[in-house]
Amino acid sequence: MIDLRSDTLTQPTPAMREAIARAAVGDEQKREDPTVNELERRGAEFLGQEEAVFLPTATMANQIALNILGNPGDALLVERHAHIMLSELGGPAAHSGLLTIGLPGTNGRFSPDQVVSELRDRTSVHVAPTRLVAVENTHNSSGGRVWPLAEIDAIVAVCREHDLRIHLDGARLANAATGSGVEAARIGRGFDTVTLCFSKGLGCPLGALIAGSAELMARARRGKHYFGGAMRQAGIVAAAALYALDHHVDRIGDDHARARRLAAGLAAAGLGVDLDQVETNFVQIDVGADRAGAIEQIKERGVLVSTTVHPTVVRAVIHLDISDEDVDAAVEAIPAALGATRTGALRAR
Ligand SMILES: Cc1ncc(COP(=O)(O)O)c(C=O)c1O
Repeated sequence: MIDLRSDTLTQPTPAMREAIARAAVGDEQKREDPTVNELERRGAEFLGQEEAVFLPTATMANQIALNILGNPGDALLVERHAHIMLSELGGPAAHSGLLTIGLPGTNGRFSPDQVVSELRDRTSVHVAPTRLVAVENTHNSSGGRVWPLAEIDAIVAVCREHDLRIHLDGARLANAATGSGVEAARIGRGFDTVTLCFSKGLGCPLGALIAGSAELMARARRGKHYFGGAMRQAGIVAAAALYALDHHVDRIGDDHARARRLAAGLAAAGLGVDLDQVETNFVQIDVGADRAGAIEQIKERGVLVSTTVHPTVVRAVIHLDISDEDVDAAVEAIPAALGATRTGALRAR
């Protein structure tokens, strides 16, 4: 089976498993795990921030970030299909008492004007003041789309101008950096806090970072305990993440090239794929109204794809365990499976 449901599905490589086996470990709650300490140092550098804190998941990193940046009753602006909005169980409200306002986005992005138009009267006794903004890069549900650096800089600038805190959900920041040709540190440095996930394109079994100033990270370390994310001999996992920083960042371009090749092959076969939307490792395929049936037909041909928030669209995600041969096989199998349900070009979302 060629599993294109998500880039979270990778198996640790033999070399990563060796790094895990060799890891020096200690009690990371006491800051005595040398491998976690080294990962936090390297991770902060990678993300263009002063300090980083190692966590089990990117969801926890996002939730801790929002918790330390906002106060109960504050309003948070986020694109309406962002992971924070759709897939974190209302966490900003449940954990931090935030009112989340979903901004309509284009390819997962929103503009400085949209931020300004959602600024509220901070002196009013009725209105939740807008205090936080979160950006997702790459943006998952729009198909792994990348924020151009100029747009990031403009959003950060408008947040600074209006005294708003700004978080980057960079779960796939390594993909965004490769996709835009801009270093992750340059993208990350303007934000108050940044999330990075190791269990997606970087191919680790688990692990994430939150990064920010030393002052904010002192609060994030408290948040890590508060949210139940403080671990013990976590160097076992941090070793995989260090291995990924050394060996899996530079190869992400291979995933992107394979995604483009898959997209081109599917489009040439007449399927609803818009090549302009393939900027990183996701390919979105518009399969028409019977999406569940299409997913089953594709599965019968030996390929797994998954749903998206868009009712007629499935996604195929390239990752570390997908080879050129797998792409070739998928280019054959998916059109064959969908022969009866071909649709027009995928519209911009
Ligand atoms: C953009 C984005 N942020 C955060 C997460 C959460 O990651 P985790 O599953 O590690 O909590 C995901 C997971 O898919 C994601 O796509």
